[in-house]
Formats: sequence, C-alpha cells, structure tokens
Amino acid sequence: MTSIVIYFSRSGENYFGGELKNIEKGNTEVIAEYIQELDGADLFKVEPSLAYPEDYMECIDVAKKEQMDGARPEIRDALESIDGYDTVYIGFPNWWGTLPMVMFTQLEKLDFTGKTVKPFVTHEGSGFGSALKDLDKLCKGADIKKGLSIPGASVYDVKETVEVWIGQ
Ligand SMILES: Cc1cc2nc3c(=O)[nH]c(=O)nc-3n(C[C@H](O)[C@H](O)[C@H](O)COP(=O)(O)O)c2cc1C
Repeated sequence: MTSIVIYFSRSGENYFGGELKNIEKGNTEVIAEYIQELDGADLFKVEPSLAYPEDYMECIDVAKKEQMDGARPEIRDALESIDGYDTVYIGFPNWWGTLPMVMFTQLEKLDFTGKTVKPFVTHEGSGFGSALKDLDKLCKGADIKKGLSIPGASVYDVKETVEVWIGQ
C-alpha cells in the first residue's frame, strides 16, 4: 500500500496559549513527518507562490481576506496527480474555521476517485471546524476516514496518538 501526505504548514510567528512565539517548523509539519516515519508515506508540502506573512497578525488578515474572497492562491509546483497512491493523508492548520485557501487550490487539481483519505488538523481550540464538510466536496469519490485533531501546542507529545490513528 502506498501513501502520501499532502499538507500545508507555516513557520514564523504563531500563537501558543496566549503567547506569540517564533517557530522554525510549523505544527502541521511535525505531524506530517511522524506519518512519513511511521507509515513510510511520501511527503508533499503545498507552497504558495507568494509566501504567507511571517508576522502573525498580518497573516491573520491575509488569510481572512482570502477566505472572504473565495481566493485560490497560486501554488509553486503544485502536485498534479495522486495516481499510484492508495491512501492520501491531508494535513493543514485550522485557519478561520477551515482549511487555508491554498489547500483548496491544491486539492481541486486532484482526482480522488477510489482513494482513501485520512485528514488531520492542528488548531488552537477549534478542531476541524467546518473543514470536514469542505473535504467532502474537495475529495469527491474518496472514502474519508476518521480525522485526527491535534492542538498546535502539543504536537511534540502526540507521536503515539498519531501511530494509533494510522493503524485505525
Ligand atoms: C491565519 C490563521 C488563522 C487561524 N485560525 C484559527 C481558527 O479559526 N481556529 C483555531 O483553533 N486556530 C486557528 N489558528 C491557529 C492555527 O490553526 C494553529 O496555530 C496551527 O497549529 C498552526 O499550524 P502550522 O504551524 O502548521 O501552520 C489560526 C492561525 C493562523 C495563522
């Protein structure tokens, strides 16, 4: 069985329990790398052509505007096909209640017919929000399995939880 992790994650300034901190690796990326290690999955990181601001408050504003506009931000080297993979892990931070718009750009390019999808999210309290509903639309024809929701501040403590979820 072959698998791939398609994810977006942002490094830079972020909020952790009421405090702003600079992180070199985004929270979602930490989980994506566990899956690579534990399931032998390939990794594909979605990179927007225009990077999101490192400044947290600026990023909040850009992301809000993108969502209100229904934007589809351009991607640098988008993934064109998932042929050859049975299982597709889809990972992202909760941004304003759902996936970052750049994930919509990426997922809309792919044909999910017959794929098994395992979604995971990192967040600051809202879990998946409405992302699972959005994923139903974005991954037409896929069998979407139970998602994994991880608070961003605890990503370094949940490797075993990720392992159990992979095996489900
Ligand atoms: C633009 C933006 C919007 C966010 N919106 C939410 C939100 O609506 N609900 C929530 O629980 N967390 C929200 N967060 C917090 C992130 O989901 C959380 O910090 C996540 O772990 C970041 O993952 P990353 O480091 O992989 O980018 C937001 C963060 C950013 C930067």
